Amino acid sequence: MGVRDNVKVAVVGCGGISRRHLEGYAKTGRTELVGVADIIGEKAEAAAEKFGGTAYASTTELLAAQQPDLVSVSTPPGSHAEIAIEVLRAGHSVLLEKPPVLSLAELDAVAEAERASAGSVYVIFQHRHGSGALRAAELLGRGALGIPQVAVCETLWFRPRSYFDPEWRGTWVGEGGGPTLGHGIHQIDLLLHLLGPWKTINATAVRLDRPVEFEDVSMASVIFESGAVATVINSLLSPRELSRIRIDTTEGSLEVDHVYGYSDADWTFHPVPGAKRAASLGQDPGVRTATGALAGAAADETGSDPWTASAGADVASSHSAQLDRLIDDLAAGRPHDTTLASTRPTMEFVTALYASSVAGTAVDRADLTPDHPFYRALNGGLPEAQLAESFAI
Ligand SMILES: NC(=O)c1ccc[n+]([C@@H]2O[C@H](COP(=O)([O-])OP(=O)(O)OC[C@H]3O[C@@H](n4cnc5c(N)ncnc54)[C@H](O)[C@@H]3O)[C@@H](O)[C@H]2O)c1
Repeated sequence: MGVRDNVKVAVVGCGGISRRHLEGYAKTGRTELVGVADIIGEKAEAAAEKFGGTAYASTTELLAAQQPDLVSVSTPPGSHAEIAIEVLRAGHSVLLEKPPVLSLAELDAVAEAERASAGSVYVIFQHRHGSGALRAAELLGRGALGIPQVAVCETLWFRPRSYFDPEWRGTWVGEGGGPTLGHGIHQIDLLLHLLGPWKTINATAVRLDRPVEFEDVSMASVIFESGAVATVINSLLSPRELSRIRIDTTEGSLEVDHVYGYSDADWTFHPVPGAKRAASLGQDPGVRTATGALAGAAADETGSDPWTASAGADVASSHSAQLDRLIDDLAAGRPHDTTLASTRPTMEFVTALYASSVAGTAVDRADLTPDHPFYRALNGGLPEAQLAESFAI
């Protein structure tokens, strides 16, 4: 696609989250909605009435009638791979909702279809796209915030038992996995995006309370290729909800603390105490003074720190933030950075977390070859009774 100001878009799956796609595209002012599709006809018609375009009853009908540049896929995760492959075979690009697919086998099948197509595959991970994460990735990437050593990644959310009332919820077939896949994946993806390739995971996933076939809490300790270490926890049992990533580097602590979306105010960088200045004042570096300031903090010596100095326009993390960047990229003929390939480490992480918990041993990223039992399914294709047992406490 050359430089253009009118990117033709379509949306498949007109349920809850599709609205964020439809509103986000409209907000860019640079898209034309050519079609919407849903297997429930009224849902497609309602979306077309509100946002424009023609309503279709399936992806196949939509592709027979339209030539979209980009198709958003906001259907349940179990249908993503099949729809993505159909769109790619028709030569168009795809934007998959998270989780992009339900297994590494599906991911590789979509990647193969992408290689044979004129289209590309992108994934919604909106928390990579707020100004806070863009700054964090850029500064960490060039070492301006020091070398990451220790990290904490928490998705402590609350879903009551009634959340699992719909028949498909809480099942491997309907959801593909528990909070590790469906909820914690946002924070996990951001952590991996910021820290680079992970190497080894030791995990425990357990079912403590909710009526589900898989876990309602999972915990992992992770070693990264860089030598950094992290703990990751995902819970649906936590009444005061929070989503948090903290990265302690040789230069300071970078932290984002939010629930479902952050703005710049939710990010902090706490520089390492400046030993020289603290010594000149006869204080121990890192000790807080009566005013709460850090004695000899690096920021005091320079008047600023790299995090504060890089502040610019505040863009909250949201679908709109990612769609804006994506449409900018497509309109300019540039590749968009949140590709399917860039999300493979995240799907590998989720796969390894389940595999490690079930096997009771550490799993290396390098172990996840096509002959690994968890390559084809996040439950390892194990018999129901064995699975139920392995998540029981
Ligand atoms: N990025 C986020 O923050 C976020 C938040 C919520 C949901 N999601 C993701 O969005 C996706 C959809 O979730 P939702 O909450 O909107 O679900 P939903 O059930 O509200 O909507 C899904 C829609 O897809 C339709 N559909 C199902 N199969 C189809 C098919 N083969 N072809 C066409 N239409 C089909 C259904 O009829 C329904 O209208 C999931 O992958 C979910 O994980 C992402």
